[in-house]
Amino acid sequence: MELDTLKDLYVEQLRDLYDAENQILKALPKMAKKASDRELQRAFARHERVTQKQVKRLERIFKDLDASPRGKKCKGMQGLIEEAQELIKEKPEPEVLDAGMISAAQHVEHYEIAGYGTVRTYAEQLGFDRHADLLQETLDEEGEADHRLTDLAERSVNIEAQQEGMPARRRRTGAQRGRRKGASGSRSRASRAD
Ligand SMILES: [Fe+2]
Repeated sequence: MELDTLKDLYVEQLRDLYDAENQILKALPKMAKKASDRELQRAFARHERVTQKQVKRLERIFKDLDASPRGKKCKGMQGLIEEAQELIKEKPEPEVLDAGMISAAQHVEHYEIAGYGTVRTYAEQLGFDRHADLLQETLDEEGEADHRLTDLAERSVNIEAQQEGMPARRRRTGAQRGRRKGASGSRSRASRAD
């Protein structure tokens, strides 16, 4: 496909995201099966349902553009999923595998957030306001999934601390957690203002 205009680039990047989402749809059930933590299993299962809706949103946009959603392989997502598969193959201890899969899933979320933020901005610039709204919905969902993963990661850090016999008072308080999250910026919802 020739990329002569911003609209060409927009369609190309939407196709990349469409392929990325479909790769994620295949990977999530496998990750849920390998997770030991019930909450993490649930988080992967929930995100699978959310991803199905995100695929449908992209299909609506392609229909509106009268274009095919197929024709682009998302190599970035392929690489991220391969890294998760490599981790699973190493057969680490269950807690370590869970922590590694949370990390892999957060890499995926951040990759998607970058991609959706870009196409939402292109949609606005091209005057596709309805597309921009749909893409923002997905962007918000990816942000929420990322926050849930952060919470799970922090909880597993606490479990580890308990295992090492660390006194409970040394575990971080809610206020400390809030401050740290605020400082890292990871809690800020992806918004149209950013
Ligand atoms: Fe997604």
